[in-house]
Amino acid sequence: MERLKAAVLISGRGSNLEALLTACRRDDFPARIGLVISNRADAGGLRLAEAAGVPTLVIDHGAYLDRTGFEAAIGAALHEAGCQLICLAGFMRILTPSFVRTWPERILNIHPSLLPAFRGMHTHRAALAAGVRLHGCTVHLVSAELDAGPILAQAAVPVLAGDDEDRLAARVLEAEHTLYPLALENYCRRLAGQVPSGAADGRAVLANAG
Ligand code: GRF
Repeated sequence: MERLKAAVLISGRGSNLEALLTACRRDDFPARIGLVISNRADAGGLRLAEAAGVPTLVIDHGAYLDRTGFEAAIGAALHEAGCQLICLAGFMRILTPSFVRTWPERILNIHPSLLPAFRGMHTHRAALAAGVRLHGCTVHLVSAELDAGPILAQAAVPVLAGDDEDRLAARVLEAEHTLYPLALENYCRRLAGQVPSGAADGRAVLANAG
């Protein structure tokens, strides 16, 4: 099977990028990372990509008059590198509907909650405030509406007594590092026709909420 060339868009430390880079080292993994783009020059993930020998690019949103110019630069870089898929991994810019439309069903995102619960920012704080006993993460396709595209895979973790935002975030992040490579792998196989369309490709991690 031909491996799909993916770009990963980041803004920060890049721990999900690292999980994807590790997965892509497997000979049988159906994607490879051909480019990492960050909108911030100080994103730690850039160093991880460089260490893995993956080309990197900083496209600073502040250098553009508007989103259209910023996204045009991203689009041009993606096309030039021959990328077929985009993985958002802690990319802290909202993509406009017109950009999303140019990549139909080709943009994946990982969000730190069990969508549709807790869209947007501060998901761990919101989960603690709501008193849920299960929290987690979701890999979904990006659509015009924020954090609302079709869900590809989810993993759940328990919310434990004494949790604060940091402890809960760390537990969710560990699940993210398993989930994102799994979801990307299954999605690439689905695109290649190896997984029947509509087959469940998420794997629930059921937790004892205590
Ligand atoms: C993750 O929690 C991800 O779910 C969210 O942003 C965070 C990025 O972390 N979208 P990292 O840069 O991958 O370590």
